[in-house]
Amino acid sequence: MAAFVGSSVSVFVGDRSVLSCSRAGRRVSESGRRAVVTPVKMTYAAGIFEKSNPYADELKATARYISQRGRGILASDESNSTTGKRLAIVDLENEEVNRRDWRELLYTAPDLGKYISGAIMFEETLYQKAADGTPFVDILKDQGIFPGIKVDTGLTALPRTDAETATTGLDGLPDRCAAYYKQGARFAKWRAVLRIGDGCPSDAAIIENCHALARYAQISQAAGLVPIVEPEVLLDGDHDIDRTAYETEKVLSYTFRFLNEYDVCLDAILLKPNMINPGGDYPTPPTPQDVASYTLRTMLRGVPGAVPGIHFLSGGMSDAEATENLNLLNTIEGSERAPWSLTFSYGRALQIAVLKTWSGKPENKEKAQTLLTALARANSQAQLGKFEGEHPSPEAKTRNWQPLRLV
Ligand code: 13P
Repeated sequence: MAAFVGSSVSVFVGDRSVLSCSRAGRRVSESGRRAVVTPVKMTYAAGIFEKSNPYADELKATARYISQRGRGILASDESNSTTGKRLAIVDLENEEVNRRDWRELLYTAPDLGKYISGAIMFEETLYQKAADGTPFVDILKDQGIFPGIKVDTGLTALPRTDAETATTGLDGLPDRCAAYYKQGARFAKWRAVLRIGDGCPSDAAIIENCHALARYAQISQAAGLVPIVEPEVLLDGDHDIDRTAYETEKVLSYTFRFLNEYDVCLDAILLKPNMINPGGDYPTPPTPQDVASYTLRTMLRGVPGAVPGIHFLSGGMSDAEATENLNLLNTIEGSERAPWSLTFSYGRALQIAVLKTWSGKPENKEKAQTLLTALARANSQAQLGKFEGEHPSPEAKTRNWQPLRLV
């Protein structure tokens, strides 16, 4: 359970604190909290997962904490090579110090933790420290944000398919997950990518990707990390919205079929799918009503109610689309039937405008941080179905869509 005491937040499993931090930036002693919180209630019958996985209760508590209403995930787990491409937008060299300064700007944004419950990091960042020597992991915890880790190692071409991909990273994964847990990570992410085209996604691509997602999820849960399961159906293509809905539904059905085959506990995962949009090259732009109603229908058909949170990726939508579609998704007729939190795990929609505002200049840091918190707040309001007024992004309507990236 999560207990809020004054400006502090603690997450308890039994009488064990798995995260304890202060919004005001103070570290809070765990023993000090024990007197004032009630232990987590066992609301589920103890089954095979609970008996065989020593982290079972902690995993469920972590997943519930991250998917709580009004909060979402900051996806800041770009590999060093992708980070380099982002930094190049503002003419910054891809050097460790620049990557560090960029992530430090994000994680120290005032009040970010009011709207963000988890931040996904790349391996370098998980072990990195701010300029003053404070580990990033501690900075996040002090904001009430769970540290997470991207554990896949990128995409590789799937032979004898039409430019389809498999995701790599299963080799050595149990040991890496154990090390990441020790370093403070409490959740993980693995991105599987499917593309729509003539004959795509092929059965081979669906089976390969959904199998790998399930193996990864099983390994993560065994190591105490809540797996974010991300079967991303790309925006690439000129297909209509019905096709995206059909293919996404199919991919989700295989995803959950494989998760079930591998005994992954659905109460202790988070799903990170795409919203249902027509292909980026389809001639008519979608209305937010279409995106929201197709997306809700697809999730209701494909995602079991045991999953606590659906954290959409922004996938190249504009900053305004990402927020407005999420808001509508939480307010349209039928959304009251949603058993999960419909929320966000945005990368580009939270970062690109902030990066451009900063441009690597110390004098712009405060303005950039204020923008990040405003974007996080807008999406938090959208999760609650309460977003209104002007979008805070200076380039709200510009799409952040790029063609398929292999890293
Ligand atoms: P976008 O929101 O930029 O799609 O990134 C989310 C993500 O983590 C993709 O793996």
